[in-house]
Amino acid sequence: MNLTVHTNPAYEIIIEDGCISQIGKRTKKLLPKAERAVLVTDTHVGPLYADSVRQSLEAAGISVSVKSFPAGEQSKNLQNIASFYTAFSKAGLTRTDFAVALGGGVCGDMTGFAAATWLRGIPFIQIPTSLLAQVDSSVGGKTGVDLPEGKNLVGAFHQPALVLIDPQTLSTLPPAFFADGMGEVIKYGCIRDKALFSRLSQEDCHSYLPEVIYTCINIKRQVVEKDEFDTGERAILNFGHTFGHALERIQNYGGLSHGKAVGVGMVLMAKLGEGTGMTKSGTADQIISLLKKYGLPVSCKESIDELLPATAHDKKSNGSNVKLVLLKSIGECFLRNVPRAELSSLCEVLK
Ligand SMILES: NC(=O)c1ccc[n+]([C@@H]2O[C@H](COP(=O)([O-])OP(=O)(O)OC[C@H]3O[C@@H](n4cnc5c(N)ncnc54)[C@H](O)[C@@H]3O)[C@@H](O)[C@H]2O)c1
Repeated sequence: MNLTVHTNPAYEIIIEDGCISQIGKRTKKLLPKAERAVLVTDTHVGPLYADSVRQSLEAAGISVSVKSFPAGEQSKNLQNIASFYTAFSKAGLTRTDFAVALGGGVCGDMTGFAAATWLRGIPFIQIPTSLLAQVDSSVGGKTGVDLPEGKNLVGAFHQPALVLIDPQTLSTLPPAFFADGMGEVIKYGCIRDKALFSRLSQEDCHSYLPEVIYTCINIKRQVVEKDEFDTGERAILNFGHTFGHALERIQNYGGLSHGKAVGVGMVLMAKLGEGTGMTKSGTADQIISLLKKYGLPVSCKESIDELLPATAHDKKSNGSNVKLVLLKSIGECFLRNVPRAELSSLCEVLK
């Protein structure tokens, strides 16, 4: 299954078992002047898949250096970016060469950022290996790193030259990370795709994963094409994030993981919508059942009074307003800008 993302420049997404080993052949066509690549990966993913990527590139006449970093969000920092630049320099990467991100969202975001800034921008290829990266982070061109002051505070928009999604790589993904990605998959069903939501409720997603990935990434493609630089409609991808981010923040990023926190955030936002007459009643219960089915939490011990102040740090708030993503019903969402004071009164229904 292939998709083309019509940004500037446009790029292809290939979703196919085994497509990792086609990287050499495809790159030769896409980047005919390229002679060198740095393959960036983490310490979990590298030992599993770096060899086949490297062999494919070398067979196409491209010399490859591998740069590995310790797996995990704590690596998503500027120190590691500096070490990527050192690897790029040692490999002699010029503007016609490229970087490859082989791993989850952390690897993709960091490699993309290093590629965006090395020599003021070189091409990079995404090979996402976590469910979250395959359905979300590998497409759309948001790259960056965390600072001690907050997550994703430094970054750049830099679209990949190609995205190779091999669903087979999910067979080695630990279940907790798979569940995290399912939080995002369920989000796509909530905001745009009632049929996906129903199918996920009726059948176990493992039997049709490539279709799930295709459906989700196709929604992301459509949203990104309309709003590449995240100034409007792209905010709908943040359904569940207002309270989800607040929860992660209160727990100092050491409690619920992102996908799980977003799941709880989706339930809270659906309840807020129902309580204020903006969302069809019963929607929150439908989301709760689906989250439970895929092993995700549906509530938190923190009260709404604790969560509310933490929403002030939401990147999507503009000044004294907060941009809420609400559902009309499953599959249909809308954006509402509300003054911060109004959010407090809307939240009364959650008490
Ligand atoms: N750029 C975007 O648009 C965007 C969107 C959403 C999230 N993100 C970012 O994505 C990051 C989270 O991504 P993530 O959940 O993929 O985290 P991650 O990259 O840390 O991967 C999760 C874990 O799974 C391991 N792993 C990945 N693929 C594997 C495989 N096939 N087999 C075995 N182990 C594997 C990794 O080594 C890691 O330990 C966050 O930093 C978040 O900010 C970015």
